[in-house]
Amino acid sequence: MQDDLERILFHETTILSRLDQLAAQISQDYHDRELTVIAVLTGSLMFMADLLRRIPLPLKLDCLGVASYHGKTQTSGEVIFKQVVLPDVVDRHVLILDDILDSGHTLAAIREKLEAAKPRSIRVCVLLNKKKPRARHVDADYVGFEIEDEFVVGYGLDFMERYRNLPFIGVLRKDLIAQASE
Ligand code: IMP
Ligand code: MG
Repeated sequence: MQDDLERILFHETTILSRLDQLAAQISQDYHDRELTVIAVLTGSLMFMADLLRRIPLPLKLDCLGVASYHGKTQTSGEVIFKQVVLPDVVDRHVLILDDILDSGHTLAAIREKLEAAKPRSIRVCVLLNKKKPRARHVDADYVGFEIEDEFVVGYGLDFMERYRNLPFIGVLRKDLIAQASE
């Protein structure tokens, strides 16, 4: 799998030490409020597991299944909610966790949907933030790393459902992306 990468961006140790900092910040911000974490499946699984184990606060955890990519590297703009019943967030302090903020379509749609259920507050935490103009405006309150506009895989992030189990994050070879869209 590693041969499919152009280069490694973040090694496992780099990711985990950044998570120490993020978790410390979140723990400080929520020390007097109970958190309800909503993790966006499937990309945020590794991030969620490693981040939450570093937050020593009582919290509730729910997952939300959405799809927007349909196997390509460009978002379709359409966000499909896979669950009929959404997590109960009424009056809760919600923290949405996602792997990456790209076009903004996914997080904007999730935020909108959850806001309609009247939580007390909503914040967004992403592991990666792509530096690019967004199709929809979304602010991430907590960001692991800023990256250039390149397609990355590993540590939960996939290309056509592969590479999620790589323990590090890297840039996928462009010839593999081109090949898949032929
Ligand atoms: P957005 O709706 O365009 O912001 O995209 C959000 C979703 O697209 C993420 O949760 C990822 O699943 C996927 N995505 C966006 N960029 C990448 C990437 O570089 N690698 C892998 N998945 C990505
Ligand atoms: Mg994906």
